[in-house]
Amino acid sequence: MKIAEIQEEILRLKKEKNICILAHAYQGHEILEVADYTGDSYGLSVQASKSDCEGILMCGVRFMAETCKILSPDKKVWLPNPTAGCPMAEQLTVEELRELKKKYPGYAVVAYINTTSELKTECDVCVTSASAVEICRRLDHDKILFIPDPNLGHFVAEQIPEKTFAFYNGGCPRHAAVTGEETEKAKAAHPGALLLMHPECRPEVVAYADYVGSTTGIMSYVEKSEAEEFIIGTENSIVEHLQFSYPEKRFYPLSVALTCMDMKVTTLMDIYNCLKGQGGEEILLSQDIMDGAEKCIRRMVELG
Ligand code: 13P
Ligand code: SF4
Repeated sequence: MKIAEIQEEILRLKKEKNICILAHAYQGHEILEVADYTGDSYGLSVQASKSDCEGILMCGVRFMAETCKILSPDKKVWLPNPTAGCPMAEQLTVEELRELKKKYPGYAVVAYINTTSELKTECDVCVTSASAVEICRRLDHDKILFIPDPNLGHFVAEQIPEKTFAFYNGGCPRHAAVTGEETEKAKAAHPGALLLMHPECRPEVVAYADYVGSTTGIMSYVEKSEAEEFIIGTENSIVEHLQFSYPEKRFYPLSVALTCMDMKVTTLMDIYNCLKGQGGEEILLSQDIMDGAEKCIRRMVELG
């Protein structure tokens, strides 16, 4: 089968079964082309809460499919490739978080959405990279324990100096792998290009950026900018998507490290097999986890 033929079949099957396909922007272009909605973590969670289809196929990583299920408990939600996890989401256990909370009594626990649903049951509110600053600012607490990404946490804290922040020592293994040295090299190779970065990169690297923002933030920045060349400091699929959208401009990857293999593990054939009922995993969560994590996610949707 050719790519276009599989895509045709996917479009036919999803229509026949009234299934909505959501795809995170870190998926390959061939997957974005069959999706009903594409975007960043925040956009996808809002979309999941609005969707009126019978089922949702979440092309992204496990915590995103869990978020969909929590916001659409009456729908069936599938992760087309069950091995698609996010190493950051799984780096802090509930027991470790309870210990950390003891060290910071009186702190509101703010979880990046890249966490398991189980962990969210122990947190006050979750945030995405697009909503983190606003939500932390609006929160009725002036002490915040931000988990698990200290890089995003520092980026937020810098913009809200009136509040006190504590962090966990985690982070995204891809974004955190970018070095100052390779950033300087990329800037020297493309002196006319603007550097756009995701706040999951380390603060000393983010310091080189012309703009720092979420996946969608980066894409909208390009849409509004008159510049012709950009170095993209986030997952490398964004380089490809932007190049497709603006063929007259030039986009350069900042680092080969910014290829998230967990996002890339999902293929068109996984989507096809899942729609045919021959693959994928239906997301099932216990009622306790659904209820506990729902409060944390709903609070984000309300505050955001
Ligand atoms: P956003 O979609 O919030 O920009 O997050 C990036 C990410 O790493 C998703 O896994
Ligand atoms: Fe997780 Fe980082 Fe991959 Fe996003 S880019 S899914 S945070 S490992």
